[in-house]
Amino acid sequence: MIQIDKSLVNALKESESIVFFTGAGISSESGIPTFRGKDGIWNKLRPEELANFDAFIKNPIMVWEWYNHRKKIVHEAQPNAAHLTISEMQNYFKDVIVITQNIDNLHRRAGSNAIYELHGNIERNFCIDCKKFFNEELDFSVGVPKCDCGGLIRPDVVWFGEYLPEDQFLGGEKAAINADVFFVVGTSAVVYPAVGLVYTAKQSGATVVEVNLEKTALSSISNYSFFGKAGEILPRILEEYRLSIKS
Ligand code: APR
Repeated sequence: MIQIDKSLVNALKESESIVFFTGAGISSESGIPTFRGKDGIWNKLRPEELANFDAFIKNPIMVWEWYNHRKKIVHEAQPNAAHLTISEMQNYFKDVIVITQNIDNLHRRAGSNAIYELHGNIERNFCIDCKKFFNEELDFSVGVPKCDCGGLIRPDVVWFGEYLPEDQFLGGEKAAINADVFFVVGTSAVVYPAVGLVYTAKQSGATVVEVNLEKTALSSISNYSFFGKAGEILPRILEEYRLSIKS
């Protein structure tokens, strides 16, 4: 059985604000491939050909085919025990905030209420000219969907070289500064400025808890590191916390 440090459980018992900073690894147990792991997407495909604005302008059909393929995988996926545990923790703490790099909407589908989406959401789309949003299913029967203004419609995801949505980043930053315990779950911690929020939390005095299959650049600043599956470790942490508040 995964051992959970008593001192971490005590830290949780003294906490009001719990933050989860998540990456693709938290959704891998839902069948959504990660980017850089062994079967990572970027081992097979070139982000510069698919996940940037110039590539979209050059070949919008190809980029849309790829996002529609990913959307199909996301729609067939279900939130897993890790997503569900985070949502359940809302019953025990004043604030349970999710800051995610994922675009798969699984935290919301798991019932989490406070979510900052640093890299957008695959369920939303907008016009590249007038910025109008389109959240309904788009019609691809006549090629790349266009806005009534004539502009191309693109997925509301952050591509390489693009700025993060300011309101989401600033909201995440505030949550990191106010966090008592800051969980870092399933991220290789290589993409900035998102990962900078972990250092913000650490510098603001949060207890940093890493959950990953393997060591990352954040292992050295983490107060606790659990190496294994998020879908097994997070439920264990909640179980130990629940037992401690009963006794
Ligand atoms: N439980 C815990 N950790 C896991 C699990 C699991 N079941 N499965 C994989 N991991 C870990 C891997 O060890 C790896 O460290 O999750 C991490 C996934 O890393 P990446 O694939 O690099 O994903 P992420 O860190 O979210 O990528 C950041 O890069 O490509 C861009 O915009 C994209 O948001 C993404 C960003």
